[in-house]
Amino acid sequence: MVEPGVLTCRTIDTRTSSLSNILRAYSALVPPRQISIPPFLAFSEVQGFFLNSILLNGHFKRYPPSQKYQRKFWKWALERLEVLSQNEEDNEIDELIYQHYLSLIRLVWYDRNDSLPSDSYITYYWKSPAMHGSDESQLYETVTLLESQTTVAASTTGLRTWRSSLALAQYLIEHAGLVAHSTVLELGSGIGFLGIVVASLQLHFGLTRTCTPTNGTLPPGKLGIFLTDLNSCVLDRCQSNIKLPCNRSSVHPNIQYRLLDWFDAISAQENLKSLLVEAHADIILGADIVFDPALVPPLVATLSAALSQAHTRMALIALTIRNEVTFDYFLKETGASPALTARANTELQHDDHF
Ligand SMILES: C[S@@+](CC[C@H](N)C(=O)[O-])C[C@H]1O[C@@H](n2cnc3c(N)ncnc32)[C@H](O)[C@@H]1O
Repeated sequence: MVEPGVLTCRTIDTRTSSLSNILRAYSALVPPRQISIPPFLAFSEVQGFFLNSILLNGHFKRYPPSQKYQRKFWKWALERLEVLSQNEEDNEIDELIYQHYLSLIRLVWYDRNDSLPSDSYITYYWKSPAMHGSDESQLYETVTLLESQTTVAASTTGLRTWRSSLALAQYLIEHAGLVAHSTVLELGSGIGFLGIVVASLQLHFGLTRTCTPTNGTLPPGKLGIFLTDLNSCVLDRCQSNIKLPCNRSSVHPNIQYRLLDWFDAISAQENLKSLLVEAHADIILGADIVFDPALVPPLVATLSAALSQAHTRMALIALTIRNEVTFDYFLKETGASPALTARANTELQHDDHF
């Protein structure tokens, strides 16, 4: 026999979770054709959700998805509401939703010459091991970034978040001990996605506790994060994203930003050495930094220099294998370096946790 109370509870959970999925899809700019509204949801429920949780949501007012994305989303939402309204009596589509959509299509006139998608805020939700509660929404933390919507913008690939960052973040969330009590140095940090997740893990599990860093040599005040990149525009954007008040990283006491070119490991070793001494990192991170064979030798030389420091215990590099030859070249070069023992794990995947 099924207990009615249990059944009701499960139904509410499923409804809430379906709507939360739509919220997370909207915030991450998922194309509306990939979003579905479960058939068991009624017009009034869906409309109430679109209105209160998306249109009137204070976070999205302050950090909105691009107007281009919003136009697509609200067109889709209105079409779905129109279909659903045919099944219900109390079926008026709220004027606020129409008005919002009209304001977006009016803006197209001003936007016409803008053939490239503009930068957009994007909010990723992640299930944090530090969050507890009976309500699903209490289990998530967010990372909000101002991101480019193109693969290459201003001659760099660093102005958007790449999937390797999502995969590496997921791994670190599941193994928070790796970074919570460590000083972390990130190579090619881009606009800060991974830095924000690491900062949150340190704030939850490291900095808030009286802890001695694992190697026991660092004063706790030095525990922190060094974010490095070649490109100063990328590093500036990284810094402003990290400091967005909605990101937990904004209250992290020790995040440093440094320009670093991996070619320094070959031609300007003193620069690299002084950065490594200053950072005193326990662990090195890098996401999607193995993509060009010309960068492999300087990157491997940078990793070798970093891992030759007595206190630096490991480097975790997540990459997308776009070209087997580049990947094999990277493994071969790491294997040839006396300071490196490479262990490849091709299981690390991003499974839409974000
Ligand atoms: C594909 S993006 C990855 C960004 C970020 N880690 C992510 O996963 O979203 C590659 C990054 O490496 C940086 N980069 C490229 N060449 C570099 C070099 N020689 N030295 C340091 N950083 C470099 C770029 O500026 C860019 O931010």
